[in-house]
Amino acid sequence: MITMKPKMGRNWVIFLLLVTSGVVMASAAEVLVTQFSYNEFNEERDTGSFKLLGQASIDGGALQLTPDTSNDDYIFINKSGRIFWPKPFKLWDSNGDEEDGNLASFVSFFVINIYRQPSWNAGEGFAFVIAPNLTIPEASHGQWLGLTNATTDGDRTNQIVAVEFDTEKQDFDPDDNHIGLNINSVRSYTTVSLTPSGIEISPEEGTNYSVWVQYDGQAKVMEVYMGKEGDPKPSSPLLRDTIDLKHYVKQESYFGFAASTGYPAIQLNCVLKWKLDMEILPGDKGFMWWLLSIPAVILILVVVGGIVYLNYKKRREGGNREEGNVLGDLRRLTGMPREFRYKDLKKATKNFDESTKLGQGGFGVVYKGVLQEDGDDSTTEVAVKQFSRDDIKGKGDFMAELTIIHRLRHKHLVRLVGWCYEKGKLLLVYDFMPNGSLDKHLFGDHYDNTLNWERRYNIVTGVGSALLYLHNEFDQKVVHRDLKGSNIMLDSTFNARLGDFGLARALDNDRSSYAELELGGFPGTMGYVAPECFHTQKATVESDVYAFGAVVLEVVCGRSPGSEISYNQRLYSLVDWVWMLHREGRIVEAVDERLGNNYVDDEARRLLLLGLACSHPSASERPATLAIVQILSGSVSAPHVPPFKPAFTWASMASLTTPTTTSIILPSIASLSP
Ligand SMILES: *[C@@H]1O[C@H](CO)[C@@H](O)[C@H](O)[C@H]1NC(C)=O
Ligand SMILES: *[C@@H]1O[C@H](CO)[C@@H](O)[C@H](O)[C@H]1NC(C)=O
Ligand SMILES: *[C@@H]1O[C@H](CO)[C@@H](O)[C@H](O)[C@H]1NC(C)=O
Ligand SMILES: *[C@@H]1O[C@H](CO)[C@@H](O)[C@H](O)[C@H]1NC(C)=O
Repeated sequence: MITMKPKMGRNWVIFLLLVTSGVVMASAAEVLVTQFSYNEFNEERDTGSFKLLGQASIDGGALQLTPDTSNDDYIFINKSGRIFWPKPFKLWDSNGDEEDGNLASFVSFFVINIYRQPSWNAGEGFAFVIAPNLTIPEASHGQWLGLTNATTDGDRTNQIVAVEFDTEKQDFDPDDNHIGLNINSVRSYTTVSLTPSGIEISPEEGTNYSVWVQYDGQAKVMEVYMGKEGDPKPSSPLLRDTIDLKHYVKQESYFGFAASTGYPAIQLNCVLKWKLDMEILPGDKGFMWWLLSIPAVILILVVVGGIVYLNYKKRREGGNREEGNVLGDLRRLTGMPREFRYKDLKKATKNFDESTKLGQGGFGVVYKGVLQEDGDDSTTEVAVKQFSRDDIKGKGDFMAELTIIHRLRHKHLVRLVGWCYEKGKLLLVYDFMPNGSLDKHLFGDHYDNTLNWERRYNIVTGVGSALLYLHNEFDQKVVHRDLKGSNIMLDSTFNARLGDFGLARALDNDRSSYAELELGGFPGTMGYVAPECFHTQKATVESDVYAFGAVVLEVVCGRSPGSEISYNQRLYSLVDWVWMLHREGRIVEAVDERLGNNYVDDEARRLLLLGLACSHPSASERPATLAIVQILSGSVSAPHVPPFKPAFTWASMASLTTPTTTSIILPSIASLSP
């Protein structure tokens, strides 16, 4: 809370601190109030107390999200249902600024029995759900778990957060026995397989499991605990993730369950007990009655006095003011992940030893760290980015990076694990990516064919979906500004993860570009920078698309965008070369020759055309990010690309000069490279 300096160590200051923290703790100590508690359900008594939707019912002493009795298996097929507590809960108070409002903590305890007969394949899954209203989407059976459907899945307006208990593997799932934290989609943000913990959600002999879904509104952490009914609550959660509910669900939301069956995968989806404990936010307790008690008033005066005094002391000490400000800024960020101690990061990186250096990114050096976790012997590998210390802009860059990435969550973005700001040093801690960056595999000294065609296509698709998230799906438009091979990291299964948000900036949704710029001009990297940027010096969604085009060509051709290719006694840039092959009807000849014939002709053609379309000199002619994702998935055909690369025309400049059309033809990108 407050970093204590030795100089402040006078007794009464310590006393004040104790009093202050006592009061802060007293007011912060969340009091969970039981909202309801059911040890069993009864059809007659309880049907009116809950909202039953889809094929849900109350039957046999349980909430049945999908049908539970029949002699005919057909009844169980392709069903979905939801059951809600019919009154909404207020999840945060809106006193003042929404970002600062307190989030309510809660514990939802329930006992489930996901029964299946030995002859059935279990499926599809069950979920605890927080939803904006008492409805269920049509056709939410099968893989949609009663949460979404083929149209609505992934849509931000769903305003749904759920914990899924998934018993059927889809191609995006790790297995057929996992839990996941879902936000607006059945594609989970975080998944945890239960098999290693010895839990089978839907075992052959019906088993009752106790589940605790608990949310800490102060830390903004969601945890899921699970064990056989009757066993004590496990000491550690199966799933734990930071999530700021304010960003995803409605302030007044409904709590309940959803589930579905498919074909042929079927199961019962029973809830046998349910108890909800919830924090009542201060604003809801009526007027702050404790203000009226005289001792409390005195206490407050003492506390305020203490805070004023400490601030005064701090100001006099001067030197640490900025550090204090930064820390304050950081800790105020909602949903901020873990704060690390400098000495732990120092130890993890062997004192930032050269041997642990992974690379030099924008504004700092990245080291590999091995963190010793408290309490047990396990270790975690991380990437630690240390911002250049004497860089005056360091703090601003750090804050810029942090304010954006701490809220971004997508499976194709490198995850921020935590941060540290101590002794004037700024550090960010990310998930470690065992397979390094894309460029190392494409252009490394020893090409070993790890990047086969399937992986390459998958990488491009991953980058496309990350870009769509940044541009269209996140609640603020974010331009990455520095998309390139060395910023695309590869996880253990060679999935792409976009990293290095050092240059990312959030755009207000109503502006299409970001005007503030460093004096050094446009900060991107040659070959990936759209031609208009040399004039406007503004990064836009379209300039990200341009850089994406360069990445696509790089991945397919196995050559860097800045490379010069000799053809018919002339030197061409990568784009110009591919464009020429396209004109001559031989575009697939651009495919990396190291792949031999091991690529899919159709897919290669599609990627190359997409790469060229994104490289269109005129920003407005480039495909939209959504179209890119559709083209990659094959649901939209490859874009039409003119046989000759159009000249770069800068519309706004043309209109400023003579009435005759003026086009400015830039030197080829290759000749601009260093
Ligand atoms: C179940 O639903 C799936 C997807 O909606 C559909 O393809 C299938 O034909 C359905 N099966 C039956 C037996 O209704
Ligand atoms: C998904 O649900 C919405 C809302 O109920 C509905 O309008 C839409 O048609 C559904 N989509 C499909 C594919 O059934
Ligand atoms: C209920 O919420 C869903 C999103 O989860 C939304 O699509 C739907 O329109 C809402 N229905 C009503 C009646 O407000
Ligand atoms: C599960 O709970 C129900 C209801 O409390 C009980 O009737 C049943 O025997 C339990 N099943 C097991 C396997 O413990």
